[in-house]
Amino acid sequence: MISVDGRSPNHQPIIQVQNVVKRFPVGDGEITVLKGVNFDVMPGEFVTIVGPSGNGKSTLLNMITGIDHPSEGDVIVTGQKVHTLSENELAIWRGEHLGIIFQFFQLLPALSLLKNVILPMDFVKKLTPKERKERALHLLDTVGLADQAQKLPSQVSGGQQQRAAIARALANDPPLLVADEPTGNLDSETSDAVFALFEQQVALGKTLAMVTHSRSLAARTPRVIEIRDGRIYSDSKSEGVKWGGGEGVTLSPVHSSDRRSPTPSPVHLQK
Ligand SMILES: Nc1ncnc2c1ncn2[C@@H]1O[C@H](COP(=O)(O)OP(=O)(O)O)[C@@H](O)[C@H]1O
Ligand SMILES: [Mg+2]
Repeated sequence: MISVDGRSPNHQPIIQVQNVVKRFPVGDGEITVLKGVNFDVMPGEFVTIVGPSGNGKSTLLNMITGIDHPSEGDVIVTGQKVHTLSENELAIWRGEHLGIIFQFFQLLPALSLLKNVILPMDFVKKLTPKERKERALHLLDTVGLADQAQKLPSQVSGGQQQRAAIARALANDPPLLVADEPTGNLDSETSDAVFALFEQQVALGKTLAMVTHSRSLAARTPRVIEIRDGRIYSDSKSEGVKWGGGEGVTLSPVHSSDRRSPTPSPVHLQK
């Protein structure tokens, strides 16, 4: 499919966050957690979102995944206005377009790693049961868990559980992966292995948006958005700034989608 301007739809942002405000009721009043957030993510980008605890990072990701909805503004992901979808439509949309990875893995404890990875494919029903099993085994192999497939989550380490959760997120081959502190519960060596898997997925063409508390991991991604007090404090892409987290690392503003295509820089499309 080619869009009206002759460029492929791949040159449209995969995530558009537009003037997003989010308030939560507290007691008699309310708190404003997001105070007008705007950014786009292009297909193929690897973006980390950093910022102090309690400053709205998870709230922002929850707008992107449709776990929650904005009080004001729009969030458009894979061309969908996420907050206009019903719960049922959301589940179908997520199944096809989104892989979500959480800090505490959230594997189903009574199912083997293999069955946990098969589950999203059972929901979408695009493959035969035999193909689902073969794909799940292949994905577990990709994340280095081929020999652990029959084990329960409780029988493997945290790092192995997170790798299984990544295999699960990849089950339906979604274009977009969203991860909230995926290494927050892992030691640094295991975090490195998980981060390497993410880099591999971006190299294969996935888009990845990851909240992380780890400045050293963020410094290794092509784009870092810093959220403070509900606003974008810095965005290494729009500013072309160095973002080294004080660790002496200088980032180039070039990001992976630029590397793949010499097309003009992303435009903000008017609806
Ligand atoms: N459902 C909710 N109801 C009320 N307040 C909330 C809710 N979810 C988050 N908050 C508040 O919003 C703020 C930002 O939270 P969060 O997005 O989880 O921060 P971060 O992920 O950056 O640590 C915090 O003050 C938190 O207490
Ligand atoms: Mg959080």
